[in-house]
Amino acid sequence: MKSLFVFVAAGLALGLAQDTSQAPAGEAEGGDARPIWERIDVPSIAACGGCHEAVTREWSRSLHARAWTNANVRAATNDFSKKSCRPCHSPEPVLPKGLDVPPDFRDANHEDGVHCLSCHGLADGVAAARTIEDAPCRPRYEARFLTADLCFPCHQPTHQAFDEFRVSDAFALGLRCVDCHMQPRMDRRGRDHGPNGGFEPAFVRRAIAWKGRVAEGALLLEVTNRTGHKFPGEIPSRSFHVSATFDDGTREAVVLRRPFKGEEREDDRLTPDEVRTLRFVVPPGASAARVRLTFLPLPLVGEDEGIPLGTWTPSW
Ligand code: HEC
Ligand code: HEC
Ligand code: HEC
Ligand code: HEC
Ligand code: HEC
Repeated sequence: MKSLFVFVAAGLALGLAQDTSQAPAGEAEGGDARPIWERIDVPSIAACGGCHEAVTREWSRSLHARAWTNANVRAATNDFSKKSCRPCHSPEPVLPKGLDVPPDFRDANHEDGVHCLSCHGLADGVAAARTIEDAPCRPRYEARFLTADLCFPCHQPTHQAFDEFRVSDAFALGLRCVDCHMQPRMDRRGRDHGPNGGFEPAFVRRAIAWKGRVAEGALLLEVTNRTGHKFPGEIPSRSFHVSATFDDGTREAVVLRRPFKGEEREDDRLTPDEVRTLRFVVPPGASAARVRLTFLPLPLVGEDEGIPLGTWTPSW
């Protein structure tokens, strides 16, 4: 479990974006007479952005904000003509419906994807870590909002994130998804809402630990999964690529990923906390090699354009 403490502490040292916003009291902009917590049909930037500028800026760079508009989703859902794909990519608030079921489809303001109110929305205010009586958006302490289950409605049903998470060391230690994905900001005021996922190199690099040795006529690469779920997480379009190129010109590679629906392939991803030894047999004439560990966030991305996770250049 040691690596988990390293993981959680590393985020603090990384210096996640500092939130310099002060939420001013006062009327929301736009002449909307409805209570702030009902404004899920207007863009987050209009509903919340005027008073929570820094959080909104972080969120707008994340895939939550682009869940309806990003090109991969548009292609995979045939521009959302597949109705079953809509609810999580344009969701109504999850807390009022219950955290053990998928969200309802928000048939308005689709472009906002996972809106602030998809996570924060309550029937009579916004869910928060504490109640603040005089704030205009009526923040209410809500115990369920502060559990990992907040992420369940969208991340369990099609991707089984919780089947994996609930057998992880992170879960046993009482960590939540947000302890890795929304770490406290440097000034300890609030949590980073930014894109801490598969497209963020600094974040992905913390997913594994590895070490190599040459023994038994092979390169032995020991890889440890430090995430709280399988690695790569959730979707088949992300893959972990390890290649060994020997000085005699031969090359071997393995690609670990989840199969696409209907694809004949094993799910050979690292399970939570798994330590796996990948083995590359040394060809007879070789005396050195270059081993590359790469995370590929999209299927068509080549090894050279992926996120480098490490290079090992043994000789013997
Ligand atoms: C008119 C300004 C205004 C708007 C619009 C607004 N808020 Fe707030 N919000 C505040 C103020 C002021 C506070 C109290 C800040 C404090 O005391 O630190 C607050 C506090 C919060 C908190 C609790 C912060 C904490 O310290 O725990 C959350 C969560 C929150 N707002 C979410 C939202 C969301 C989500 C929206 C959009 C649906 C929103 N707010 C819209 C002004 C606003
Ligand atoms: C139960 C909720 C849910 C439903 C229903 C759902 N998705 Fe998703 N989808 C998610 C979540 C959560 C992610 C984020 C996973 C990740 O980033 O690893 C995601 C991510 C994706 C991505 C990855 C986009 C990228 O950034 O590369 C694609 C593509 C996608 N979904 C397509 C679909 C399609 C096609 C359907 C319908 C067949 C669908 N989704 C239905 C929850 C859902
Ligand atoms: C994926 C769910 C999710 C979305 C989407 C989301 N939040 Fe949050 N938000 C959280 C969680 C979780 C916390 C932290 C709770 C805790 O303290 O453990 C939080 C905390 C906050 C806080 C408290 C102070 C801080 O900076 O952390 C504010 C204010 C806030 N969110 C506003 C917003 C606004 C505005 C948006 C949209 C631009 C938004 N949130 C989108 C889940 C979400
Ligand atoms: C209401 C639905 C919903 C909820 C609740 C939700 N997510 Fe997501 N999440 C999504 C969808 C949809 C995507 C994928 C968007 C895409 O790629 O098109 C996503 C993407 C992500 C990503 C990839 C982000 C990036 O920018 O690379 C992470 C990480 C993530 N979610 C973590 C969380 C965590 C942690 C929670 C709980 C605090 C949470 N989500 C709650 C729907 C949700
Ligand atoms: C101990 C830290 C840790 C915990 C706990 C954790 N994750 Fe992750 N997660 C990571 C790391 C690191 C990655 C990046 C590598 C990858 O994409 O597989 C990741 C990847 C993801 C992705 C893929 C993002 C993308 O853009 O493809 C999603 C979605 C996600 N996690 C959701 C969750 C949810 C939901 C939970 C709680 C059930 C959770 N994570 C718990 C560390 C963690």
